Amino acid sequence: MSGLIPRHFIDDLLVRVDIVDLIDSHVPLKKTGSNYVARCPFHNEKSPSFSVNRKKQFFYCFGCGAGGNAITFLMDYSHLEFVEAVEELAAFVGVDVPREQSTGNRQQATKPDNLKDLHAALEEAAKFYAQQLKSSPEAQKAVDYLKSRGVSGIVARDFMIGYAPDSWDGLPQNLDRKVLIEAGLIIEKENGRSYDRFRGRLMFPIRDKRARVIGFGARVLDDSLPKYINSPETPVFSKGQEVYGLHEMIQKNAKPERILIVEGYMDVIALAQFGLHHAVATLGTATSRSHLEILFRFGSELVLCFDGDKAGRQAAWRAVEAALPSLKDGRKIKIMLLPQGEDPDSLIRKEGLENFSNRLISAQALSNYFFGHLSDGLDLAVDEDNSRFVKSASEHLKDLPEGIFRKMMLARLSELSRLPEQTLRESLEISKNAATLKLTKAKRGGKPSIARSTIALLLQNPDLAGLASKNMLDWKDLNSPGLDALRRVLETIAEQKPANMGGLLECYRGKADENMINTLAAYELEIDTASKEVMEKMFVDGVNNMLKQAKEVLLTSLLVKESRQSLTAEEKQNLIEMLKNKG
Ligand code: CTP
Ligand code: MN
Repeated sequence: MSGLIPRHFIDDLLVRVDIVDLIDSHVPLKKTGSNYVARCPFHNEKSPSFSVNRKKQFFYCFGCGAGGNAITFLMDYSHLEFVEAVEELAAFVGVDVPREQSTGNRQQATKPDNLKDLHAALEEAAKFYAQQLKSSPEAQKAVDYLKSRGVSGIVARDFMIGYAPDSWDGLPQNLDRKVLIEAGLIIEKENGRSYDRFRGRLMFPIRDKRARVIGFGARVLDDSLPKYINSPETPVFSKGQEVYGLHEMIQKNAKPERILIVEGYMDVIALAQFGLHHAVATLGTATSRSHLEILFRFGSELVLCFDGDKAGRQAAWRAVEAALPSLKDGRKIKIMLLPQGEDPDSLIRKEGLENFSNRLISAQALSNYFFGHLSDGLDLAVDEDNSRFVKSASEHLKDLPEGIFRKMMLARLSELSRLPEQTLRESLEISKNAATLKLTKAKRGGKPSIARSTIALLLQNPDLAGLASKNMLDWKDLNSPGLDALRRVLETIAEQKPANMGGLLECYRGKADENMINTLAAYELEIDTASKEVMEKMFVDGVNNMLKQAKEVLLTSLLVKESRQSLTAEEKQNLIEMLKNKG
């Protein structure tokens, strides 16, 4: 048995991960309003009733009632135990799972020593593969393959390209098998024996910004499948957090004027072959905000390069959505869509460095792409279309950090929609606040009582707990199931301090309130976009109404009791107090 995972680590993890990215990596999601939807992976259905909410960090299926946070999703979807789900989530985010203390020797916490061992083994392996490419007779076909794709010896050396022999035990036997397993280089069989993961493939070491080998991509030499295999998630490698070619780019230029983000290993290599050294690739995953944040540390302009086909345009829009919150003043993103059927590798070979570089320079500014995408298929001269355009644009512009860029985008929206900026600003505020006051019930479950909607509001926005100040909650003698539940939720929030609903739900796993909490968490409070003040007011009003109702109940019962039998001294005092305060 390994040690316990510290509670705070799980909380941090739930703050770091975005449930939308996580679920989308398993079940592709489509955005509708503030939710992302898909056909439910937990039951059979024709139309999507599975929805994921980014703000709540929660998923819920209106069809089968499955719901929960990121950990619940992995447990249900990948059939994992709790600890396995936490480990998988940690790998998704790119962090190690700490253990409070280790009571046994299986699966020790990943200590720094261990990380060093992993890096060392990966480095040894990379050197071994590179050496094989140079000197093993078997590798001649790999050399020929590289030549056929126009990769020179110099570029192969710069990228430390190698060859993994076509053998089950090709890696040097002097390397520690345990470390190799943990580094993802060999795979352990049930019977305890192990074999090389990468065989008969061209090897692309993936190096981090500190030049450490953290993993590999490996390509077949023909058209067999799978074309690429990659290192699994390990304590030093997390695909969603890394880019290929970062180290090689920094070697040539640590502060490039712009950075090109492409899809493939071979794209980065071909571009370098033609003298374009400021390209990196995502590792077969969607461009994420964390990719962009990493790259913005090295350059202030990022050019995102996508295929010109439908899938490429979809990927581009998703990247734009992911990028908006990162767009502080001084940062710039451009979108470059390639001609149909081309990737950067094929294109630069066809048209050369200069033409390709010109494409980069004249790539579409994110603002153009943004407004172009949103007005696509709409006729802004038609009022209905224009208002739809303004509405969707405003929804996204809210994500932009304050600053000049945001102002410019608003000015642009004004120009395109022919609405005065002041009106837009107001309508942005109004759409944030108004029309959202109404609480609607979830499709499942009953009518939301004041108690249910107030508790749901609190669950979905745990920071509201601070407003339930002592005098507001003078509920000494007040008891109702709703108030009791509210009190317990407030206590949990005060003790655990969860950052969002996903974190709060985690506090209830396996507890008596779990079902109630999950049901209320799924309530659609159509106020996702309401301003803070509006939500605060709703919460305070809700709690006051609950108290009022409970007081009324208590008052009635005291009056009834008094008419039948005498009250205790304390009850009498209560009744007098309440009658005094009424009205
Ligand atoms: N990829 C992967 N696993 C696969 C296929 C693709 O991890 N089975 C990732 C790799 O990072 C790959 C990228 O997706 O580099 C882009 O895939 P693709 O365009 O098919 O490959 P290229 O890099 O263009 O390689 P090539 O030109 O050799 O076909
Ligand atoms: Mn290619």
